[in-house]
Amino acid sequence: MAEYQNDLILRTIKGEKTERYPVWLMRQAGRILPEYRAVRASLSGFKELVETPERAAEVTIQPVDILGVDAAIIFSDILVIPEAMGLPYQMIEKKGPWFENTIKSVEDLKTISDQIDVADKLGYVSEAIKITKKELNGRVPLIGFCGAPWTIFCYMTEGEGSKTFSKAKSQLFANPEMAHQLLDMITNVTIKYLKLQIKAGADIIQVFDSWSGILGPAEYSEFGMKYVSRICEAINEVPVTVFAKGAYYAREELAKLDCQTIGIDWNMDIAESRKIIGADKTLQGNLDPCVLYSDFKTIEMKTKNLLNSFGNQRHIANLGHGVYPDTDPEKVKCFIETVKEYAKN
Ligand code: CP3
Repeated sequence: MAEYQNDLILRTIKGEKTERYPVWLMRQAGRILPEYRAVRASLSGFKELVETPERAAEVTIQPVDILGVDAAIIFSDILVIPEAMGLPYQMIEKKGPWFENTIKSVEDLKTISDQIDVADKLGYVSEAIKITKKELNGRVPLIGFCGAPWTIFCYMTEGEGSKTFSKAKSQLFANPEMAHQLLDMITNVTIKYLKLQIKAGADIIQVFDSWSGILGPAEYSEFGMKYVSRICEAINEVPVTVFAKGAYYAREELAKLDCQTIGIDWNMDIAESRKIIGADKTLQGNLDPCVLYSDFKTIEMKTKNLLNSFGNQRHIANLGHGVYPDTDPEKVKCFIETVKEYAKN
């Protein structure tokens, strides 16, 4: 009984011997495809797309049909969690997320809640997953996701994107008790939310810790890893991938997490990461997304160099972070095709 026509990514995650490396791209749903922009333009904005399950499913499947990736990732955003907790966001065109209210003190924690019914507040995500699974009809597995508690904390306290997230970071030093309370609340809701995604059909879960790189080892261990670890321990139904961007300093600790896959960004060397993390986990990454601005020959060469560095071990080919919005889809296809044509020995 074959559940999937293509289960390469699931076999790779389990550490089975495979004929080739699986490939997908972070932020493949949205951003680069004209077909995505057409759907997006037919609606009032990003949030309407996220909250309309049929359309979210449609843009989730586009990269499978158009690019030929080995996995789909559900179209949504990490910021649905703060919103479900009582802190709504807006997605401002060409600027990014913006929160009218932010958390600045223990007092402010009373304005949000972790005692929420996720099936009620985030039912649109679970609906989108169910529709996607049905329409994928076993072609490839579906990845569900969340932001790591520290990354969500960044947006809930800073209120918008930032290069340094100094407002968010300062809370760890000025207000550590509030920080732990908020991180705990985010973790509670995130676990319930991931279980909802799995129940709806998510086959793999990826935790995006996009801002781990702005902390150092001590702070990441206390305010980041502690809560990621709780999520990993709570999610046993499907494999979990932890992508802690910029956390090269924490690889030894990441290796101890109860998860199957570790995401690697382009700052980290593959061979060195393998040595630190060991043979018992699958690695994912890590082509610099800017390589996709070069010519086809260079993309092919750089991708082959990357594949050579995997050394026939458990590895999922991906970029080192999300694909940039102005990348030519043909260049993305070149990356994907190079991975697919590369035979492991
Ligand atoms: O990977 C996928 O294709 C699935 C969809 C997905 C989105 N956001 C859609 C999106 C995923 C996995 C995310 C995760 C996300 N969102 C992260 C973690 C990953 C990372 O890049 O580090 C973060 C930090 C966010 C928060 C966020 N959402 C920001 C800062 C922005 C604005 C900048 C940007 O990425 O364009 C968003 C908006 C957003 N999320 C868009 C998409 C397709 C662009 C909105 C649009 O269509 O105009």
